[in-house]
Amino acid sequence: MSKQFDVIVIGAGPGGYIAAIRAAQLGMQVACIDEWKNDKGGPAPGGTCTNVGCIPSKALLQSSEHFDQASHHFAEHGIAVKGLSMDVATMIGRKDKVVKQNNEGILYLLKKNKVSFFHGRGSFVKAVEGGYEILVTGAASETLTGKQVIVATGSRARALPGTPFDEENILSNDGALRIGTVPKKLGLIGAGVIGLEMGSVWRRLGSDVTILEGLPTFLGAVDEQIAKEAHKAFVKQGLKIELGVAVGDIKTGKKGVSVAYTNAKGEAQALLVDKLIVSVGRYANTEGLNAEVVGLTLDERGLVVVDDDCKTNLPGVWAVGDVVRGPMLAHKAEEEGVAVAERIAGQHGHVNFNTVPWVIYTSPEIAWVGQTEQQLKASGRTYKAGTFPFLANGRARALGDTTGMVKFLADAVTDEILGVHIVGPMASELIAEAVVAMEFRASSEDIARICHAHPSLSEATKEAALAVDKRSLNF
Ligand code: FAD
Ligand code: NAI
Repeated sequence: MSKQFDVIVIGAGPGGYIAAIRAAQLGMQVACIDEWKNDKGGPAPGGTCTNVGCIPSKALLQSSEHFDQASHHFAEHGIAVKGLSMDVATMIGRKDKVVKQNNEGILYLLKKNKVSFFHGRGSFVKAVEGGYEILVTGAASETLTGKQVIVATGSRARALPGTPFDEENILSNDGALRIGTVPKKLGLIGAGVIGLEMGSVWRRLGSDVTILEGLPTFLGAVDEQIAKEAHKAFVKQGLKIELGVAVGDIKTGKKGVSVAYTNAKGEAQALLVDKLIVSVGRYANTEGLNAEVVGLTLDERGLVVVDDDCKTNLPGVWAVGDVVRGPMLAHKAEEEGVAVAERIAGQHGHVNFNTVPWVIYTSPEIAWVGQTEQQLKASGRTYKAGTFPFLANGRARALGDTTGMVKFLADAVTDEILGVHIVGPMASELIAEAVVAMEFRASSEDIARICHAHPSLSEATKEAALAVDKRSLNF
């Protein structure tokens, strides 16, 4: 007889483990299945985010930022560092420790909330009276039955056709996070979020980094003014970014990896690097699910098809996170996980897709919420814009980090905030105020009239809001 559950969650990334915890909090008997293995073959819940995504990339971004500061910026403060050196193995070891702490934290949280965790692959067996049978294939195989199933199987890196990842020379995000020594020359294909974050890590540590991007525009989804400012800063730091290229043959040999490509002018070029990171987007993880036996509908890209409420075509089957439409972001996955658990419990879970923030953890950081200026122009909406540069912010000057600006976009008639875009120090933290404001449908005047601590970077947010009405005080 199989074990019976109210809810079975397949996948323990941020979408899955959070859905499992919320469902358990609401009084349901919950199972959560995840197949990720740590280096000893044991469970490593947390998904891409914890194991090879958000957490390890931010650990390495922090370490490399410290090295960059010590190498190039301490002297401005009168601090001399003699014999500065770096040990990549220690850096990677620290990152691995951070990952492990997170894996253990999630196992603890699942236990604390009485979620039954199963280590192995979950796949559909068949629909049964009032639910579904799910097979767990792991060290031992067993069958579970759930009244409701939440698919949260996430995504994996997309390789270029004919160039599989070997994680030695041709790296996905996985290999990119465990390069053992600083490559002299590093190439990246794709100047998206991973390309820029990983490129920044290894550039700070001393690599000569070239990023080849297929599109002619830099960060096309970002507000143009902000993307331009960021591009200027990255180029100044020494990141080489080539836009509008067509990548051709990639070959691995004794001298490294050679990439043939055509540049934006149509000229044939060759790039020889020690390592190549391919960061050209991600695929949904659905092939292990046995979706066809129950008739779960996938789209042509393999994503599980869901409606706005994360309902699939099957009664009692839901899907959240990277495996469904929408941005591939950990916090979007979590929000969907909570909302689905609440809907199963008969509540009115809700995700506001208009206020999902984005952050790119480069230096300067880039963060935004809501619409860009180019989107507003395209939609014909009339708007007012206000910007404030960090150069005019006292705290930024004290920090020695004055690159960038805060930009507000507000409705021309009602003054409702339609988008906030930041490039600059701590943009990842500053954006939270804008998210709250937009969630409460605040006007730019609301932010302009709120008292912000002095001296703080958040004063730049207030000043940008004031600038919407052309009344900045400090610029
Ligand atoms: P995942 O995290 O992918 O988890 C899915 C889990 O399901 C995995 O553990 C997988 O092993 C398991 N699984 C799959 N199939 C099965 C099966 N059949 N049976 C059992 N288990 C299965 N997002 C941010 O918001 N901020 C960031 O800073 C950020 N940085 C990133 C950096 C990198 C390098 C990468 C690659 C991604 C980053 N992301 C970031 C994106 C973020 O990691 C994802 O959006 C997030 O992990 C999606 O969560 P998820 O739960 O949908 O899927
Ligand atoms: P991405 O979609 O951000 O960027 C991929 C880039 O590669 C695009 O600019 C695209 O035009 C380019 N590209 C695609 N095919 C190409 C080709 N053949 N040749 C040259 N360029 C090509 O995808 P990425 O960087 O792989 O990251 C995947 C996702 O992971 C992100 O979209 C994001 O959702 C998530 N992520 C989020 C982070 C964050 O929130 N800070 C950090 C890292 C990843």
